[in-house]
Amino acid sequence: MKELSNKVAIITGGSGGIGLATAKRFVEEGAQVLLVDLEKAALEQAVADIGPQASFLVADVTDPAQSEAYVAAAVEVYGRLDILVANAGIEGVVQPLTDYPIAMFDKVLAVNVRGIFLGLKYAFPELKKTKGNVVIMSSVAGLGGTPDVSAYVTSKHALVGLMRTAALEGARDGIRVNSIHPSPVETRMMRSLEEGFAPGAGGEAKKGFATAIPLQRYAEPDEIADAVVYLASDKARFVTGVRLPVDGGMTAD
Ligand SMILES: NC(=O)c1ccc[n+]([C@@H]2O[C@H](COP(=O)([O-])OP(=O)(O)OC[C@H]3O[C@@H](n4cnc5c(N)ncnc54)[C@H](O)[C@@H]3O)[C@@H](O)[C@H]2O)c1
Repeated sequence: MKELSNKVAIITGGSGGIGLATAKRFVEEGAQVLLVDLEKAALEQAVADIGPQASFLVADVTDPAQSEAYVAAAVEVYGRLDILVANAGIEGVVQPLTDYPIAMFDKVLAVNVRGIFLGLKYAFPELKKTKGNVVIMSSVAGLGGTPDVSAYVTSKHALVGLMRTAALEGARDGIRVNSIHPSPVETRMMRSLEEGFAPGAGGEAKKGFATAIPLQRYAEPDEIADAVVYLASDKARFVTGVRLPVDGGMTAD
């Protein structure tokens, strides 16, 4: 029995590590997916990898008109919207907050918070029609502090407030909203952060991060995708307003 048969999903950041893995799992589970991301070439490649159940739209999630357009595109192509995976995000830079570039702080907040607010704002009217749901990609950085990544940590904490508010508002219309909080995952983003924390010695930084995870390793993107499938599926039909860590025990203590 497939978990997402006949469901229509939008996945923002859909050509990135976690987004693409999620799109593949969604299609295996019977969904049709619209991938939203910035680069046409990467999206074309992603859709070619996934097959005919996937399509794409180039859009910047920080832009209201483009956010409204990706919701409209899903409804135009597939006739309905059941699931929004609000996953697009950026890491910013690694700098103590006294040196943190103000423009970069604003950019991280724009993509990671405003982008998800806009997705909720424009998707809710369509999700109301299907009693659909939203899965927001936060992070363990949304549950606790980490030095030198103030913008990222701030943005991922902000998503908890946004998720909880959206869950309470959405419940009036049968819409569920939850967030996922991964520990480090094997994607481009972690390579960038490892290099930021230990320039020229990213491999050493990785070992240090992995040691801080009780299961002693990074997650694979598929392992996050499986959690998204669960929250987006009817198996989670009474689950809303929840922060789900998928973190190898990192936040257990
Ligand atoms: N990799 C990790 O260790 C990790 C851990 C916890 C949470 N996360 C979160 O998971 C999500 C996905 O990250 P990932 O690891 O797959 O990284 P990634 O860089 O591979 O993917 C992020 C995707 O978002 C897209 N994106 C960025 N800005 C955008 C914008 N303005 N409009 C549309 N798309 C935009 C990028 O082009 C990219 O394809 C992010 O929100 C990230 O913060 C990642």
